[in-house]
Amino acid sequence: MLFANLSQHLVLSALLFISSTSGAPSSSNPSNSPGSMEVLGGNCLDYQIPVTTQTEALIWGLPKFTTNYDASAFILSLIRRPSPTIPFTPFSGSKNVTGNYTIGATFCSPKESKDGHEKTVLLATHGLGFDRRYWIPSTVNTSEYSFAEYAISKGYSIFMYDRVGTGTSSKVSGYSESQISNHLAILTSLTNRLRSGQYTGQLPGGKPSKIVHVGHSFGSILTHSLIVQDPSISDGVILTGTAYNQTTTDFPAFFEGARLNIANTVSPAKYHGLDSGYLAFADVYGNAASFFNPAAFDPDALWYTQHVAQPLGAIELLPPKSGNPGATNFTGPSSIWEIVPATAMAPWIPPAWDLFNKAKPFKTAVHPKAGHGINFNPNATGAYGVMTDFLALSGL
Ligand SMILES: *[C@@H]1O[C@H](CO)[C@@H](O)[C@H](O)[C@H]1NC(C)=O
Ligand SMILES: *[C@@H]1O[C@H](CO)[C@@H](O)[C@H](O)[C@H]1NC(C)=O
Ligand SMILES: *[C@@H]1O[C@H](CO)[C@@H](O)[C@H](O)[C@H]1NC(C)=O
Ligand SMILES: *[C@@H]1O[C@H](CO)[C@@H](O)[C@H](O)[C@H]1NC(C)=O
Ligand SMILES: *[C@@H]1O[C@H](CO)[C@@H](O)[C@H](O)[C@H]1NC(C)=O
Ligand SMILES: *[C@@H]1O[C@H](CO)[C@@H](O)[C@H](O)[C@H]1NC(C)=O
Repeated sequence: MLFANLSQHLVLSALLFISSTSGAPSSSNPSNSPGSMEVLGGNCLDYQIPVTTQTEALIWGLPKFTTNYDASAFILSLIRRPSPTIPFTPFSGSKNVTGNYTIGATFCSPKESKDGHEKTVLLATHGLGFDRRYWIPSTVNTSEYSFAEYAISKGYSIFMYDRVGTGTSSKVSGYSESQISNHLAILTSLTNRLRSGQYTGQLPGGKPSKIVHVGHSFGSILTHSLIVQDPSISDGVILTGTAYNQTTTDFPAFFEGARLNIANTVSPAKYHGLDSGYLAFADVYGNAASFFNPAAFDPDALWYTQHVAQPLGAIELLPPKSGNPGATNFTGPSSIWEIVPATAMAPWIPPAWDLFNKAKPFKTAVHPKAGHGINFNPNATGAYGVMTDFLALSGL
């Protein structure tokens, strides 16, 4: 089963060092990429941020895909039962690597202060299939689907970025640099720079007083890894679209439902310049099956996400070799929740409590009747309300 060795906790859906100069606000606006971001009630600035990473990277050990038959065989290998006679060994080893990237990002702060929350900066990491527009969509009804607009209306500031390989961030290989260790190094770098006041000059005093990490799906896995690596790096976490119980989480259905094909065969124009390790929904139905509640969704929201859909790296689907231990040294406020269709129930309850046993306060929740792509499903603002209420109750 997918992520079978990802210790016991898992994730649906579904970071060390850095030095470099600060990014300048960007003016570029490539097609199919986030352009200039705006939020009702907020002041936003876009950035293209240079980041250098040094990581121990896993080496892809399988043949690279040449056709969509290869891509579908790979998905089958991920989701089938383990077999002693047909072993699946995706990695051939590891090596220390350096990477230089440019990361597209947006920082927004509220035009009007509310309860002094503006110095709490939400650092949001999107999941697979999206870029920063998961949090800050443009051409759908933003009063229903924009987490950024909602957070700004409650007085919070928010920093959103395109994970490497998506949006306006550097294009990389779907077989190597898009792996978890590299995403984690980039998230670590961005957090440290935010903390030091880069990009937040418009705040009173110029720096955040608190940084809360918010994740969706794969972005929640990264956020979890971040606070395992360094429990002091974050003042609170909200992990959405994530699950910690393999027994009750149907990963095979999720990955099969997505209908992943080699991205540049799906749309050579939209996904040009990507190697065959980048996969995309073959059509809008794969997107719908992965992210929307079939019983209730808004076709405008589905088609918006399809229009801005981002490819995912095959290596992003593979679990880290070491698994992913509990965040048992993290003492900040933590809220974890799965957003499940009406048919599924609380798939995370055990063992999530044990994995966050020092977090205070700690809250788990299930947001009813939604699809996995919470922010574009009906009642998304209901979910946003739970998130910002948790922050306010936690003194953030
Ligand atoms: C990577 O560097 C670290 C620290 O220098 C070292 O411990 C580790 O063995 C190296 N890994 C590889 C695969 O060379
Ligand atoms: C990355 O950038 C740094 C600083 O600009 C440079 O010294 C280094 O050679 C670059 N590394 C690679 C792998 O491009
Ligand atoms: C956008 O959503 C809000 C809240 O549901 C609704 O009142 C409004 O009519 C919608 N606007 C459009 C243009 O659909
Ligand atoms: C918690 O911190 C202690 C002391 O630094 C360390 O020995 C331990 O490995 C950490 N546990 C986890 C799960 O990271
Ligand atoms: C996962 O959930 C099942 C069903 O509720 C439960 O029996 C099992 O103990 C849970 N697994 C863990 C590791 O807590
Ligand atoms: C909307 O979401 C909130 C928070 O999860 C929930 O309490 C409420 O029941 C939901 N409303 C509907 C109509 O499903």
